[in-house]
This record gives sequence, structure tokens and C-alpha cells, in this order.
Amino acid sequence: MRHHPSLFEPLRLGAITLPNRIIMAPLTRMRAGAGNVPTALNAEYYAQRAAAGLIIAEGTAVSQQGQGYPNAPGIYTREQIEGWKVVTEAVHSRGGRIFLQIAHNGRNSHSSFTPDGGPPVAPSAIPPKLPGFTRDGRQVPIETPRTLELNEISPIIESFTKASRNAIEAGFDGVELQASNSHLIDQFLEDGTNIRTDAYGGSVINRMRFLLEITEEVSATIGAERLGVRLSPFGQYGGIGDSNPMRLFTSIIDELNDRNLAYLHLIEGRGSEIGLGDALHEDALNNAKLFRPHFQGVLISAAAYTPRTASEAVGDKTADAVAFGRMFISNPDLVERIESDLKLSPYDRSTFYGGQEKGYTDYPPSEAI
Ligand SMILES: Cc1cc2nc3c(=O)[nH]c(=O)nc-3n(C[C@H](O)[C@H](O)[C@H](O)COP(=O)(O)O)c2cc1C
Repeated sequence: MRHHPSLFEPLRLGAITLPNRIIMAPLTRMRAGAGNVPTALNAEYYAQRAAAGLIIAEGTAVSQQGQGYPNAPGIYTREQIEGWKVVTEAVHSRGGRIFLQIAHNGRNSHSSFTPDGGPPVAPSAIPPKLPGFTRDGRQVPIETPRTLELNEISPIIESFTKASRNAIEAGFDGVELQASNSHLIDQFLEDGTNIRTDAYGGSVINRMRFLLEITEEVSATIGAERLGVRLSPFGQYGGIGDSNPMRLFTSIIDELNDRNLAYLHLIEGRGSEIGLGDALHEDALNNAKLFRPHFQGVLISAAAYTPRTASEAVGDKTADAVAFGRMFISNPDLVERIESDLKLSPYDRSTFYGGQEKGYTDYPPSEAI
């Protein structure tokens, strides 16, 4: 007998069809090789999870300036494209589908990553509330970022466009814009991080401009049907915030609704900081319910779902699909376990970031336990 049948209805998502609605959330694991190049180990990890309706591969820098985590991958050099090819071929040969999350860390980065050795860049010179990390993994006090000059913005938009072209060349089925969790695009959106007075700051329209220009350019390059956008309304990661998040995110989602995207991916406010710890904001509003009326395309919801709550959310059409993060780390065969109602294995947070096989490719499938 198949459990949670609503999760096993196929779903059309832009240019592809998913056999189920159980998505692997983007998960930074900091295990790329030298030069931020994906390795055979990364390919094995993703291939083990190929039964996901869709894999959204980890946040991947669009440029050296966009880097911010030790050993996180990039998608801006020839070697990185070739490394990712091995990953996408491994997933496709196991019958899977894979998007790449493309990202720029903005203020959450550190001067040890920037090409000129200067401070990280951001819409405004406001530091995050986060631990800082150097390129070689040392924890350091966070730095105050440098305000981007107006003429520096279009080269960054171009780096997203190039990254999307590179991702398609590397064999990805599409890309997801990292516009959530206090990364650069989110820093432009929210007025707690953007106090610019030019065309990219001030009004909601101006703060959305960076995201919408990237959306436009990437859509023109790879097709809107291969582009998803991830947002984290009411998120608090790294101390980000907005004075009127309801107005801001309603405006953004209304705009995105007109752009024929493959999907919109919303992180629930209760779990916007799960990358840092397991505590939840239990009093947060339900983003999927709140914004569903504003988005007619495919809506993916993420954060702190169980198989039961995921199948309820899809069953009552609050979301079209649900993304799982931590449970995909410790259950490579999560889809089969949900389908057969098998016990889920717990994860070990101490091995989330950095390292090799341990806590990465050595979680056994259910039949091997
Ligand atoms: C180890 C780890 C790394 C993460 N890396 C990313 C990332 O690269 N990009 C992103 O948008 N979210 C990232 N997140 C957030 C997850 O995509 C997801 O929203 C979060 O884990 C909540 O889902 P869960 O409750 O099913 O784990 C990360 C979370 C964890 C635990």
C-alpha cells in the first residue's frame, strides 16, 4: 500500500514533470574540492537521492565575490562546470531531475573570499548578526560590508545570467535564484538591509528591482520555465528583517506571478534559521497559506515538515510540493520511506558542514539498517 498518496501525484514544473512532490531542499554542505569544484563524492551524494521529485542542489556562488562559505561550490569557472557535469550525469543516469541554486552571499561573506581582499559587498553598509567565517574555515568577528556602487550592480546581475547559462551547460534541468535567507538578493529586498537612496533602494518597487532584473535576464537566457525563485518571507536569518514584510512579499509574489516561472519556493517563517539550529519560531504565520492566493504557478513550501504535514499541505492545495532538508541528509531513500511509511533516521548536525563521507554519503538506505 502506498502511504501519503497526495505526494505521489506527478507534477508539471516548467519544462519537466516530477514523478512525486517530495523535493530535496538546497543544502550547503561545504564539501566541494579545490577551486570550489564539485567532486565525485558530491556526485555520489546527489545520485543517492535521485528518487526525489526534484533535487535542488546546494547554494552555489555565481562569482568569486559571491562566495562566503569554506569549500562551497561555484558555477563560474570551466572546472566548476565540468565538475557539475559529473553530478548532473550521475543524477540523470539514476532517473532523477536536478536544479542548481545560484547564490551571492553579499554581506554574509568575508574579506578572505573577495577578489580584491576588501570587505564583502551589500546594498548598504549594515553588518549581519552571524558568526563570520574565513575562506579556510576559521571563525572570526563579522565585518561591516561595503555599499555597492550603482555601476557595480549590473555586473552582478550579469554574473547571475552567466551562472544560469553555465548551469544549463553543466546539465542542470534549471536554476533556482537564492532570494531567501539573507543572501544578496534578499538584502536588496528588505529595508533592514537596504537603505539605498538610488533606483535600487527606498520604495518597494526600487528594492524589488535587483531581483526582477535578474529574473528577467535569466529568463531571457535559459527560459522562465527553467527558473525557480526561493524567498523567505518573515525570515530572520542573520538578523534580516523588513518594516512591512506582508506588503513587501505580497508585492514581490504578485510581480513574480506574471513571469511564467517554473516555480516559487517559500521557506516557512517558523524555520528560516534551520541551517543554524533546530529551534523553530512556532508563532510564525503560514507563508504557503498566506501567499498561495497571490501565485497561480507551482508553489513549493519548505521548513519543518513531516511526511504527514507535507501530505496534508499538498492534499489541501496549500502547496503543490514540499521540500525536505534535514530529513534528506539522513535518509537518502526518503521518498521510499515516505511511500512505505518507514521510520526516518535522525541526522547528525555536527557533520552538516564540511568534512568528507561521514554524515554525507554514509547514511544507509532503510533496507541496509
Ligand atoms: C545543512 C543545511 C544547509 C542549508 N543550506 C541551504 C542553502 O544552501 N540554500 C538555502 O536556500 N537553504 C539552505 N538551508 C535551508 C534548507 O533548504 C531548508 O529550508 C531547511 O533545512 C528547512 O527544511 P527542513 O526542516 O526540512 O530541514 C540549509 C539548511 C541546512 C540544515
